[in-house]
Amino acid sequence: MNVTCVVDDAVQRSSPFWGEHGLAFLIETEAGCVLFDTGQSGTVLLHNLELLDVDPVTINALAISHAHYDHTGGLPALLERVHPAIPLYANPDLFRVRFSRQGGELRSMGLSLTREELTTRLTLRLSGVPQEILPGVWTTGEIASRPEPEGRSARHLVREGDALVPDPYRDDMALVLEMGDRLVLLCGCCHAGLLNTLAHVQRIFERPIVAIAGGLHLTSATADHLQRVSDVLVGMESVQRVYPNHCTGEAAFIALTLTLGPSVVRPCPAGTVLEM
Ligand SMILES: [Fe+2]
Ligand SMILES: [Fe+2]
Repeated sequence: MNVTCVVDDAVQRSSPFWGEHGLAFLIETEAGCVLFDTGQSGTVLLHNLELLDVDPVTINALAISHAHYDHTGGLPALLERVHPAIPLYANPDLFRVRFSRQGGELRSMGLSLTREELTTRLTLRLSGVPQEILPGVWTTGEIASRPEPEGRSARHLVREGDALVPDPYRDDMALVLEMGDRLVLLCGCCHAGLLNTLAHVQRIFERPIVAIAGGLHLTSATADHLQRVSDVLVGMESVQRVYPNHCTGEAAFIALTLTLGPSVVRPCPAGTVLEM
């Protein structure tokens, strides 16, 4: 199984890959390939896929971590190029209208496509429980138990009746890759919280996690919480690689590197092939 970061906020110096705020990973297995998230725009997504020599028509399935534009913005361009009726895996709450409040202004930041627009091109597989996309490639389902801090932004809102309330991020899910008796966790934004997501995966999949990659949304984490996350990861002796990118935040990247060491914590700009 190969996992490649297709879109990230960062690119390596002199890299031909393009970067923008967003995320996408390509998972290639013997049974086919899955695109997890689509970045913020078709322009960057399609450019980077072309560099990887991946024709969108060869993608067997799509999975969407959550509705935010930086994960779903590449979908409209992709829909015109993928094989008709391939499945799209996501949480049923994907279509909820979501906002970001900046100053006094509300900006829509959810999915730009309607359910009807998606269903004319794709087969929707929406579920709150884990689904197997290809052999060994699973969605986490909804991370419902959240005793630890979530990966929250105070700006993220949804409408409830006449009121705007904090986004519950019910749509947030990650992917779990089975590598024999071990697991790899791929996160989108991890709004459900990294520690909650890890506990959920350990409870459901019951195998040691060897690698964690993706947006860990620790930008607003307190120093105490960053320390706690680092301590938990150190305590998970099976973890050999952590590839934080996208919305993880520089302070978190540094804190994780200081605790786990640079041989474990690796940068993950667009074009990175994960070592697992
Ligand atoms: Fe994001
Ligand atoms: Fe997000």
